[in-house]
Amino acid sequence: MSRLTESSSWRALAKHYHEVKDVHMRELFDNDPNRFSHYSLELNDILYDYSKNRITETTIGHLLQLAYDVDLPAWIEKLFKGEPINNTEHRAVLHTALREQGNKPIIVNGENILPEIKAERERVKQLAEKIRTRQWRGVTNQAITDVVNIGIGGSHLGPMMVTEALWSHSLHDLNIHFVSNIDENHINDTLENLSPETTLFIIASKTFTTQDTMVNAETARQWYINKLGNDESIERHFTAVTSNVKLAKEFGVAAENIFKMWDWVGGRYSLWSAIGLAIVIAIGSEQFDELLEGAYEADQHFRHTPLEKNIPVIMALLGIWYNNFFGAQSMAILPYDQHLHRFPAYLQQADMESNGKYINRQGQEVDYTTGPVIFGEIGIAGQHAFFQLLHQGTKLVPADILAPVYNFRCIARHHRALMSNVFAQTEALMRGKTRQEAYAELKSEGLDEKQIKQLLPYKVFPGNRPTSSLLFDTLDPKTLGSIIALYEHKIFVQGVIWNINSFDQWGVELGKQLATSILGELNDAEPVCLHDSSTNGLINHYKRRRARENL
Ligand code: F6P
Repeated sequence: MSRLTESSSWRALAKHYHEVKDVHMRELFDNDPNRFSHYSLELNDILYDYSKNRITETTIGHLLQLAYDVDLPAWIEKLFKGEPINNTEHRAVLHTALREQGNKPIIVNGENILPEIKAERERVKQLAEKIRTRQWRGVTNQAITDVVNIGIGGSHLGPMMVTEALWSHSLHDLNIHFVSNIDENHINDTLENLSPETTLFIIASKTFTTQDTMVNAETARQWYINKLGNDESIERHFTAVTSNVKLAKEFGVAAENIFKMWDWVGGRYSLWSAIGLAIVIAIGSEQFDELLEGAYEADQHFRHTPLEKNIPVIMALLGIWYNNFFGAQSMAILPYDQHLHRFPAYLQQADMESNGKYINRQGQEVDYTTGPVIFGEIGIAGQHAFFQLLHQGTKLVPADILAPVYNFRCIARHHRALMSNVFAQTEALMRGKTRQEAYAELKSEGLDEKQIKQLLPYKVFPGNRPTSSLLFDTLDPKTLGSIIALYEHKIFVQGVIWNINSFDQWGVELGKQLATSILGELNDAEPVCLHDSSTNGLINHYKRRRARENL
């Protein structure tokens, strides 16, 4: 037994689970007419309603006690103060410093990092403004019309998600493209209609060694050289964001166009840094500042609000409740704002790369489950795809629903229809439909008893399916910044409770290592035999088929 599962709060939760597991949320709402106000919180224009969860005051009490038992308030301070809480890599974790609005020094290895952060942000803004105002000129003195961000993981998902989310706030005569997949189709499709004379590349890679990114970067460089016939002017079309300045220079990027990252920013937490260059180019520096400000306000809320009123803490505790006591394996992220369509993909990396771990901070195997499978989709699309399982499947899938009160253009006919679905889904998932209700409905439709008997079981919805709703006024940079930061902190809190390091990612290494050695085996047509029979079989099939095509 671990310290966590032995703790009195964990045991109390396990016991409490058996007491409440069959209680229906209908009953909880009936018993407490003020349940919504008891279980909802606000941060600026963001309303977080968690009343449609399978919780009582006792549940929350035990969960909060759990947070105190693991010393959560002390961990929050460690995070903000830059203690090396990424213990396997001996690094501080300071994405919060990237959006700091004050001047109080933040010390890493004896040095205040704030001046450097601000200086780098200023460089990013200057470059972005030159592109936005068409002062930046390419090799033939033309302005840039297309920016291609080449990166993967955190060097892709964050900038892409935010750029898409803030499309209404962007310059629309400047196209921002994102290339991540090493599959040539991604870069080839992207470059097909672009002109090298008006294209600027951002090679975004913290390490500057990630295979996918470097192969794509090389293809981009070749495309540029092939089209223009020389590489002398490459500096005017390639920028880089990296902590490996040496490799970026060797690639051919001019020193003044290389933007720095630091080892205390994790890739999946880096959109606030120069990795956000594509975002700044799209929305401009003032709005990027608003994004940072929104995140900063969420940071302040997280750092200074008592745990029971602290949105990311409550989000995290609800996740623990379902994950560790109800045995829920997954969690759905359902934005009802089209511009948030990449938010589930972004959160998949943020959450699953952070908390998908089975070894604790002391190097031992955990005896409880950790991070959930995160999946999601635009809510409306999900309704016509996988909501069937949410409503009537055999698995418990807690869901977060995100929706705006109004849109940028706000056509009432669209928006009201959209929101009617938001409210209906959360109600339907919570209430379900009883046998009696379904019977009455079928009866009123004029079905006879035999027909009703046949159809009735299919018409019953168990309900009691938890959702939490985040309603925000509109998806502007500041609100988006806050929402992202709330999720970042939720992930951190869960990592603290599970006693895992949310900031390393050793689990991605094995696949990378094997790919490197297999790559060498794909250079010729010789059959391989050193792997298991499946891997040998797949590789040899691939080789045979390619040889047949003379490839
Ligand atoms: O493979 C995982 C990972 O290391 C992520 O954590 C990271 O965001 C991504 O690869 C990209 O890494 P880099 O920015 O160094 O290219």
